[in-house]
Amino acid sequence: MTSKIKVENKKIIVPDYPIIPFIEGDGIGKDISSPSQKVLDAAVLKAYGTSKKLEWKEVLAGEKAFNQTGEYLPQETIDAFNEYLVGIKGPLQTPVGEGIRSLNVALRQTLDLFVCLRPVRWFKGVPSPIRYPSLVDMHIFRENTEDIYAGIEYMTGGIDAKKFRDFLINEMGVDKIRFPESSSFGIKPVSKEGSERLIRAALNYAIKRELPSVTLVHKGNIMKYTEGAFKNWGYDLAEKDFANQTFTWRQYEKIASTKGKEEAEIVLNEAKKAGRVIVKDVITDAFLQESLLKPFNHSVIATMNLNGDYISDQLAAMVGGIGISPGANINYKKGYAIFEATHGTAPAIAGTGKANPSSLILSGVMLLEYLGWYKAAEHVYDAMEHTFAKRRVTEDLYAQMEGATLLSTSEFVDEIVGNMH
Ligand code: NAI
Repeated sequence: MTSKIKVENKKIIVPDYPIIPFIEGDGIGKDISSPSQKVLDAAVLKAYGTSKKLEWKEVLAGEKAFNQTGEYLPQETIDAFNEYLVGIKGPLQTPVGEGIRSLNVALRQTLDLFVCLRPVRWFKGVPSPIRYPSLVDMHIFRENTEDIYAGIEYMTGGIDAKKFRDFLINEMGVDKIRFPESSSFGIKPVSKEGSERLIRAALNYAIKRELPSVTLVHKGNIMKYTEGAFKNWGYDLAEKDFANQTFTWRQYEKIASTKGKEEAEIVLNEAKKAGRVIVKDVITDAFLQESLLKPFNHSVIATMNLNGDYISDQLAAMVGGIGISPGANINYKKGYAIFEATHGTAPAIAGTGKANPSSLILSGVMLLEYLGWYKAAEHVYDAMEHTFAKRRVTEDLYAQMEGATLLSTSEFVDEIVGNMH
């Protein structure tokens, strides 16, 4: 019997046959959507026999929706995600034209999906620009509702920019605008509530998965009251609400300054031995460098919207690019989660059998993990590892891999299913 995923007492309740709405997607969406489902279905069958099954329910968005209903984003699609909580989507072409809602924006706002989660791991055999890609295992929690996503801008020359400039100069006493007459202005809100819910989700994730650390990435050295405050709220939260599960660098520094560095090192090592999550912070530019040079120093990353944007793409490139990087937008409080391929619609290769379905498959694996179906998720990881290690890949990777065998999208999917032991 199929039924709905629910949230009760802050816990997600997953029936054995949950209904999962999916959007096929435009362009290569059609090429990768049902092959990805094939892999996930095979893994669930392998892990649980017929006692569990994902019940796929197609909902429309993008061109397919427009052709069938005259709308790019029918209200029923939003309603379906609202009703069933957890869904998955292929890439959607951003339609050009006035008044067309972007699905990502509409869903993010309607369901208040405040976390953009991007796990980044490397599969043996996948070409990487870094020397030790096997040391990369990071999980990015990017804030999804504030910072530049809620940014306010005034274009120079406009009445608003003038009003705003005059307000800053005349009422706020600002005297450091270098070229006031020709300046545009930007404002970004970063709140305590918004930061805390994002960092809380990252801490819970690290604790649940027994990951070693959470790094707060920020530019607090320059933007003290937004990015710097994000860092401080993060430390406050960890020390107050996760006192028994974490140890922070701020606590380390306090001990070091009062009792000496040696004592601080002892406490830090004890915390690590006890399995506490180490909460630290790094300035964004240093993080971008360090994640390349010493990726093993970082596990879960919690950061604001713009930093998260840069970091997500850099880390994805380190393990083989967006073609194999999954993602999800999640509201951990209410249970809503939408998993997605992170690449676009790749119109030039749509319908040619060249598309790599890995990003969508791996976002499906994140979905399985979100449901708590870890055994099925492991089956997919293992099978993909085998497939990449045998260098049997789609064209995007074939071109960069020595001694590889070229497979079409469907052959690649069959290979993965065949490697599920
Ligand atoms: P794109 O990701 O579609 O393509 C960039 C390059 O990567 C192309 O060379 C493409 O062939 C290749 N590529 C992408 N995914 C691939 C895959 N799975 N397998 C093999 N090769 C792959 O980005 P582009 O060209 O900037 O955008 C095309 C359309 O997609 C636009 O309408 C854009 O708005 C939309 N888009 C949608 C996203 C979403 O729905 N989440 C994300 C990014 C773009």
